[in-house]
Amino acid sequence: MSYATEIGAAFYDFLGEAGDRAFMGPLRREVIGRAQGVVVEIGSGTGRNFPYYHAGKVNYLYAIEPNLQMARRAVPRADGTDLLIEFLEDDAERLPFEDGFADTVVATLVMCTVRRPEAVLSEVKRILKPSGKLLFIEHVRSDEPWRATLQDWATPLTRIWSANCHLNRATIDLIRTSGFRIEDLRRINAGAPWMRPFEAGVASHA
Ligand SMILES: C[S@@+](CC[C@H](N)C(=O)[O-])C[C@H]1O[C@@H](n2cnc3c(N)ncnc32)[C@H](O)[C@@H]1O
Repeated sequence: MSYATEIGAAFYDFLGEAGDRAFMGPLRREVIGRAQGVVVEIGSGTGRNFPYYHAGKVNYLYAIEPNLQMARRAVPRADGTDLLIEFLEDDAERLPFEDGFADTVVATLVMCTVRRPEAVLSEVKRILKPSGKLLFIEHVRSDEPWRATLQDWATPLTRIWSANCHLNRATIDLIRTSGFRIEDLRRINAGAPWMRPFEAGVASHA
């Protein structure tokens, strides 16, 4: 389903609510709570991370979301915080910031859907300060062979039905090979069996 339609965005938000109640909410709290300074959130979607930022630590939040139906649903969540949030309708493959601009970049459930993850990670690296942190929560390719095979089979369908979502992306490996050092990594075996595991953590310049 395309998130670019009103129904697609509503459906995503409905599923997101269930996911947040099950395990994503506490995970968002843990990971997003580490954001500080100038923050760029890529693929901010319906703003499900917004309630978890600490207004006292975050100076300014740029919410990058090319899909206006998703961004529209994020506005009430932004209004419910004390954060300074600016929405930008940009593509994470070409971020409108100078080199070394951000203290924190946040990507949650995004790297599975972007067209060119290597290009996005290269942009993230470019805009992060030398001391900057990439905070992430992603579902990734399983290392259990049977589950990974299932994910390979199902990915052509989820790409069609779920806005280009790849179940079989080895995102943490991609983060590493894009020139980041993984500082902290936690694996969570929760959620739909075909989407496991989720991995959450912090990366910095290698
Ligand atoms: C699965 S949603 C996740 C939304 C949110 N981060 C969350 O945790 O609920 C993925 C989002 O990434 C956005 N997206 C996809 N490709 C993108 C790109 N190249 N640049 C920026 N955002 C992108 C989609 O429009 C969508 O809103």
